[in-house]
Amino acid sequence: MNMAYEFNKKVIEHFENPRNVGMMKDADIVETVGSPVCGDMLTLYLKIKDDRVVDVKFKTFGCGAAIATSSIFTELIKGKTIDEALKITSDVVVGELGGLPEKKVHCSVLAPDAFEKAIKKYRERT
Ligand code: FES
Repeated sequence: MNMAYEFNKKVIEHFENPRNVGMMKDADIVETVGSPVCGDMLTLYLKIKDDRVVDVKFKTFGCGAAIATSSIFTELIKGKTIDEALKITSDVVVGELGGLPEKKVHCSVLAPDAFEKAIKKYRERT
């Protein structure tokens, strides 16, 4: 049988105890994206105040790597200004997690992608 991917401890820890999971009723922006690679989906909820990400939640119909990468992404952007948070790319996410198996790198794109699209909408609106 084909064995599971090798995930490091930090990835597994975020998968088992994901931060900021759930919905946000009073979110300023909600954005859903899907991965073109696998069809998994992620919804990001954001609360923005004075150009800063004051709160963030996510829900994903995605794999373990999507959960872990979204979890750390939300931790990294919380409290940051929008411009600082836009610098948290999928490469940064993978680096912070200490690496991902090659075939799971696309999972790390979902959260930064949703954030970028959400901010675009937000900026068009405000
Ligand atoms: Fe697609 Fe992980 S397999 S998000």
